[in-house]
Amino acid sequence: MYTKEQIQKLQSITKKLLKEPGSITDIRDALRFHEHRYYVLNDPLISDFEYDKLYKDLEKIERENPEIITPDSPTQRVGNSLNKDFITVQHLVPMLSLDNSYNADDLVEWDKRTKKLIPIAIGTDEIEYSAEPKFDGASISLIYENDILIRGATRGDGAAGDDVTFNLKQIKSIPLSAKFSNYGIQRVEIRGEVLMTRQSFKKYNEHLVEQGLAPLANPRNAASGSLRMKDPMIVRKRNLEAILYHISYVEKSSNKKSDKALDSHSGSLEMLLQLGFKTPAKEKKVLSGIEDVIKFCSDFEKKREDLPYEIDGIVIKVNDVELQQRMGSTTHHPRWAMAFKFKARQATSKLINVEFQVGRTGAITPVAKIEPVHIGGVTVTSISLFNPDVVKEKDVRIGDTVLVERAGDVIPYIVKPLIELRNGTEKKIVFPNNCPVCGDELVKPEGEAVLRCVNINCKAQVVERIIHFVSKDAMDIKSFGSANIIRFFEQDILKNIPEIYTVEYEKISQLEGFGQKSIDNLKTAIENSKTQPLHRLIFGLGIRYVGETTAKTLTKAVDHLLDFEKFSLEELQNLEDVGIKVAGSIYQFFHLEDNIEMIKKLETLGVNLRNINKEVEVIGKLDKQTFLFTGSLPTLKRSEAEGLVEKNGGKLLGSVSSKLNYLVAGEDAGSKLDKAKKIGTINIISEEDFLKIISEP
Ligand code: IVH
Repeated sequence: MYTKEQIQKLQSITKKLLKEPGSITDIRDALRFHEHRYYVLNDPLISDFEYDKLYKDLEKIERENPEIITPDSPTQRVGNSLNKDFITVQHLVPMLSLDNSYNADDLVEWDKRTKKLIPIAIGTDEIEYSAEPKFDGASISLIYENDILIRGATRGDGAAGDDVTFNLKQIKSIPLSAKFSNYGIQRVEIRGEVLMTRQSFKKYNEHLVEQGLAPLANPRNAASGSLRMKDPMIVRKRNLEAILYHISYVEKSSNKKSDKALDSHSGSLEMLLQLGFKTPAKEKKVLSGIEDVIKFCSDFEKKREDLPYEIDGIVIKVNDVELQQRMGSTTHHPRWAMAFKFKARQATSKLINVEFQVGRTGAITPVAKIEPVHIGGVTVTSISLFNPDVVKEKDVRIGDTVLVERAGDVIPYIVKPLIELRNGTEKKIVFPNNCPVCGDELVKPEGEAVLRCVNINCKAQVVERIIHFVSKDAMDIKSFGSANIIRFFEQDILKNIPEIYTVEYEKISQLEGFGQKSIDNLKTAIENSKTQPLHRLIFGLGIRYVGETTAKTLTKAVDHLLDFEKFSLEELQNLEDVGIKVAGSIYQFFHLEDNIEMIKKLETLGVNLRNINKEVEVIGKLDKQTFLFTGSLPTLKRSEAEGLVEKNGGKLLGSVSSKLNYLVAGEDAGSKLDKAKKIGTINIISEEDFLKIISEP
């Protein structure tokens, strides 16, 4: 959509705007360009920090001159009113379903029907089809008038849907304006799907679970639920994407000649791509004849798991739009399109029993034990039922036949019990009154969906806290699996987190299955974990409501973990995405003597508590080169200089070692400079040199 020249021009405009104020048109153009790079192409050219700066500049100008705000200004994605009720709006053309096929024979039959309907004479006997993924999200319909997005709606009953324009405007891959006029189009209705990527879904669910809430079943539910949010700011945070795949209605402007793009489905996708939309233009394939279509479907099914989002099949469309029109539609589906559905990832099984597990925060989770069932390449035997509310809502009982779904790498879940198969012997699930591990009485805190064991010394909780600390997304101490942790705990080898770093390998070596090699691996893994970035440690501490994302936010606010001791509740709440509940939990954590003692102990044992080694992935000219500053710099503050390193994709080190690429030395540089000279391989540079490196194109 942007030519090489335009990209170069916009990049140089951006560079200038980051240094000095510029015109409002330049800022808007630059922001639109970078939104497209980020949200449509997944290939940003500037950092989030730089984007925010431009955005804030634009906001400021518009605040001072409200009359110049245009509806497609990047700031207009921000909805500002809460509690909007949805208005029902008629689609210009009904949003139909698709006819389904499940195997090659179904497709061959459809091809025959198609050939009968359009006795074609187009050179070959074969029909040209265009095949693309069938996205498993929430369908939407967008209307652009005079190049501006004027309305976005959900599918609803097909004839009319909910007007969710203000929510759709939060999805950054939906352009607020698009140059349809270049194609002679004055008004257009386009169709597509709103999706949540698996990664965003996983994060979102982790967040829900941290809050003691039940996670959502699948990304589709997350996407459609998000569109119905009353607060657009929530939608904004959910990282949704929109993929557009069909033009349902076009009104041409009288003074422009029509464009060839609209003559074929594949042409329409290319046009939408050029206009800045996310489309399946790359994934789609134009194929001649149904045999090639069948091969495409089976090849694509194998790649299903490699995509960042869920698809549940392939949609095959007659490529020629004129032929599409000749074929027409039934009241249910167009005759010119067919969905090829992939194998279902659902199966039925019997719920044998429910066990109650105690998590690291004391939450009691009911876990359904089912007869082993094979879904999507794995055998499922246990499924979380999350909390009493979920059990009640699904009315699932022991002995029930249940429908189980496992989508992609999403954890399996029970869709529903098959009530019609009940024979009266099924038993209701009864929650215990006492902790199944320590026997203490369970409580149900007000406002929470879960039952809790509040004995923080409950063995299950202690073990789970250690398991969490060493887990992959926390300190990532490999070869320390949960089974081993339980064993070590039971053998009195490991009773708490700091003991990981003083563990007696002698004792471990006496356990069965621990040879010298596994002890060495364990030692290395434990040693390596000491230098993990701070956000991993924060996450690993298991502070309630603090997931990976919040841990990263918190890290940015401090130089040293214990700085949090000095934070007031209000200061914590001022951090991005930290609400009252989360702030309260962090505050409490850092005001508990035991926790502070544990953290201090970890530091004595060599664990990094400093905010160095930041794991920010920035594509930049410094390309992961390592930097350290010493002495006082002539113009830059230390924090500014360090910020520049990170912004440009470099890394900061905390001390001089052979891993260091550059030591930037200011006045009165002391021992670090001496040490760097001794090592000999480190580039010792001045602030001026450093700034030169950064400003080089
Ligand atoms: S074309 C008039 N293409 O699947 C037909 N639909 O199960 C326009 N869907 O209602 C639809 N991916 O919401 C089309 N690549 C794709 C699609 C797709 C997902 C949705 C669509 C449809 C539903 C039917």
